[in-house]
Amino acid sequence: MIEFVHVYKSYDKNYILRDLTFNIYKGEFVFITGPSGAGKTTTLKLLTAIEKPTHGVVNVFSIGISDIKPKDIPFLRRKIGFVFQDFKLLPNRTIFQNISLSLEISGISSTVIANNVTNILKAVELYTKKDDYPLSLSGGEQQRVAIARALVLNPPVLMADEPTGNLDDNTAGIVIDILKSFNNKGTTVIVATHDKSLIDLGRARVIDITKN
Ligand SMILES: Nc1ncnc2c1ncn2[C@@H]1O[C@H](COP(=O)(O)OP(=O)(O)OP(=O)(O)O)[C@@H](O)[C@H]1O
Ligand SMILES: [Mg+2]
Repeated sequence: MIEFVHVYKSYDKNYILRDLTFNIYKGEFVFITGPSGAGKTTTLKLLTAIEKPTHGVVNVFSIGISDIKPKDIPFLRRKIGFVFQDFKLLPNRTIFQNISLSLEISGISSTVIANNVTNILKAVELYTKKDDYPLSLSGGEQQRVAIARALVLNPPVLMADEPTGNLDDNTAGIVIDILKSFNNKGTTVIVATHDKSLIDLGRARVIDITKN
């Protein structure tokens, strides 16, 4: 489903990724790891066509990222839920509104939106906080809102960039359990992290982009 073949990526003249080759298969849970600056976020950006490879082939859902057509970009991004390292929640909107906003933009009816948002908030155990504002939530709760927002349209793939960066071990464990539960229901999950203890918690395949 996702294929990197001898991928090189440079910004200016410095190569960040060198000869990176891997596959990710439908239904997998994988970690992408490497030290800070190794290119984990860059790898996720290649998957969503935010960046293009300098050399080599990146294929996602059989779409070649190097020569992706503009009309295929929204199609690709609808299929991949993205959880950002810094959450990017809107502070002056409630939890419910933070999740419903992208659905409203897609022109989905308000009944369907209410149903979907309710279901996803229950799945991450935050339904009781639906009318609260992000800054009144703990870091782990905010992370779960970001995950709910990425998953509300039920994309086949979820990517999370350092999803437990600022969380203690216990809270990180809860976040990983939530990602695992969606993976068990069929979502392909890709987690970028430098955190070895998170990888130990997750017990899944590891792609080390520095050893490839
Ligand atoms: N848009 C850009 N222009 C120039 N250099 C960039 C750009 N984006 C990233 N880089 C550089 O590429 C390298 C890899 O960055 P990237 O964010 O992919 O690393 P990372 O593995 O995600 O690191 P971290 O663990 O700190 O998040 C870094 O040295 C960074 O400075
Ligand atoms: Mg990063």
